[in-house]
Amino acid sequence: AGAVRRYSENVHEHFQHPRNVGSFKKGEEHVGTAIVGKAACGDVIKLQVKIEEGVIKDAKFKTFGCGSAIASSSYATELIKGKTPEEAMQLKNTDIADYLKLPPVKIHCSLLAEDAVRHAIEDYQKKYPGVTEATIAAD
Ligand code: FES
Ligand code: FES
Repeated sequence: AGAVRRYSENVHEHFQHPRNVGSFKKGEEHVGTAIVGKAACGDVIKLQVKIEEGVIKDAKFKTFGCGSAIASSSYATELIKGKTPEEAMQLKNTDIADYLKLPPVKIHCSLLAEDAVRHAIEDYQKKYPGVTEATIAAD
């Protein structure tokens, strides 16, 4: 039980019961994929979005990383489902970190999830240019 307490309840919940784990079938249409990692710890998140009619219909992830990265990915996929790509692009790692009450040393785990969401949407927009209004300014 002591080990469990190291994570907040929300992290624990998403850690024990991560949502949307997996990946889409190879060759599935309207999917954007991102693989992002941090050299510092070697943790990697693969995250995919399926976008149809301008809305994120589904999202899936696989995380090869710490519990906070898994919980962050899980919560991120929950947050972006049903949103437009433009809305999902607004997702801030702090939204995730606050909800999961990540301690300072784990903030970067939520950043990894934010990066994954952004890159997955960008990948989709590259593959399907003009399908959704690309309102995101290149940064
Ligand atoms: Fe692990 Fe930063 S040290 S993602
Ligand atoms: Fe690496 Fe959390 S410590 S992503």
